[in-house]
Amino acid sequence: MSSSLTPERRQATTTSRKGRRLLTLLMALLSLILSSLANPLPIEGRSFPGGGSIANARPARPAAAHPGPLSRPVQVAAPAQAQAQAETTPADDTTNTNTNPLLPEQKYFHEPGYTEELSHYDTRYFTTPVPYDPHIVHLRHLIRSYLLMTSSRSLTTWLAHGTLLGWYWNGAIMPWDYDLDVQVSNSTLGEMAREWNGTTFDYVYTLSGQEEKEGLGKQGEVHVKKYLLDVNPYWAQRTRLEGLNVIDARWIDMENGMYVDITGLSEDREQKGTPGGRGTGVWSDKNFHGYGTRQIWPLRKTEFEGVEAWVPWDVEGVLKEEYGGRSLTGETWAGHHFDHGRKEWVKTELVKKTS
Ligand SMILES: *[C@@H]1O[C@H](CO)[C@@H](O)[C@H](O)[C@H]1NC(C)=O
Ligand SMILES: *[C@@H]1O[C@H](CO)[C@@H](O)[C@H](O)[C@H]1NC(C)=O
Repeated sequence: MSSSLTPERRQATTTSRKGRRLLTLLMALLSLILSSLANPLPIEGRSFPGGGSIANARPARPAAAHPGPLSRPVQVAAPAQAQAQAETTPADDTTNTNTNPLLPEQKYFHEPGYTEELSHYDTRYFTTPVPYDPHIVHLRHLIRSYLLMTSSRSLTTWLAHGTLLGWYWNGAIMPWDYDLDVQVSNSTLGEMAREWNGTTFDYVYTLSGQEEKEGLGKQGEVHVKKYLLDVNPYWAQRTRLEGLNVIDARWIDMENGMYVDITGLSEDREQKGTPGGRGTGVWSDKNFHGYGTRQIWPLRKTEFEGVEAWVPWDVEGVLKEEYGGRSLTGETWAGHHFDHGRKEWVKTELVKKTS
């Protein structure tokens, strides 16, 4: 992996054309030098929450932010990439033999255990379970760094499952969750596999005043965390098999093994007639979740945990199908209560104590 990120700088409007050319040359040279040094690759983020500024090599997506749930959508077209990328045949130097090396199926991602306490970590980076209080902080950095990485690499991704439900309520992770879920199209998954698999990323962030209040350090302090993008070699195998590899990729916190599960959706044009499908086929993961094209696209641009994020077009429909209508209205859940004043989920035992 040799591509690198250098923060984009706004050039002074007064710079002469010659000066600009020199600057461009210098920037190119700088990025060349950086790319030779770059491992891990940097992602830069500044003071969160509240959406601090983010420096990225590639220009951010057009259009202004419309933060907050159910804001007016900025349209992102359904991925035509499926076709567009089909002409580049995937390298298959491993499949020259008659036998498929992936069979019999073997589980790729491993967790230290199957219990609720142990199933939310990647074995390779796990040492000990992360307790309730700090876990939410690690999850926030996980999703922020993932969203920053994907948007700076123009990898289209959106929130899914419990993470999407958290967004629906207040644009934040539900505090009883221990992992995070996002989805990508099959073609984006292919891009992750070809371009970014095995890449570690440096995520540099500056502590905000809010984080100082939460006892995480001093405001202005610069911290670095490392994350790994790991793509399951079974990603291109789009059927469930024995269900050992339904997670296509992971974004892993290399300090403690916590992760974001990344699953790809591929279109099955044979299957018709699910809600919103209208003959355009069904987009499915490998674990019995299916969506009509119009349920997912066009994606809506929004914010999650203070950074730019995308959600499916029909968030409510998707959530109702997966969790039932009560998930959108029930205000007590998993020992927590939704506090309308604070607009956040708080532990029920604490609510009782103070009321
Ligand atoms: C998934 O994407 C790859 C290319 O990235 C393509 O070869 C494959 O046919 C796609 N599979 C499905 C089911 O769309
Ligand atoms: C990704 O990289 C790991 C090693 O870092 C490898 O085991 C795995 O097979 C790779 N996945 C793909 C899709 O190539």
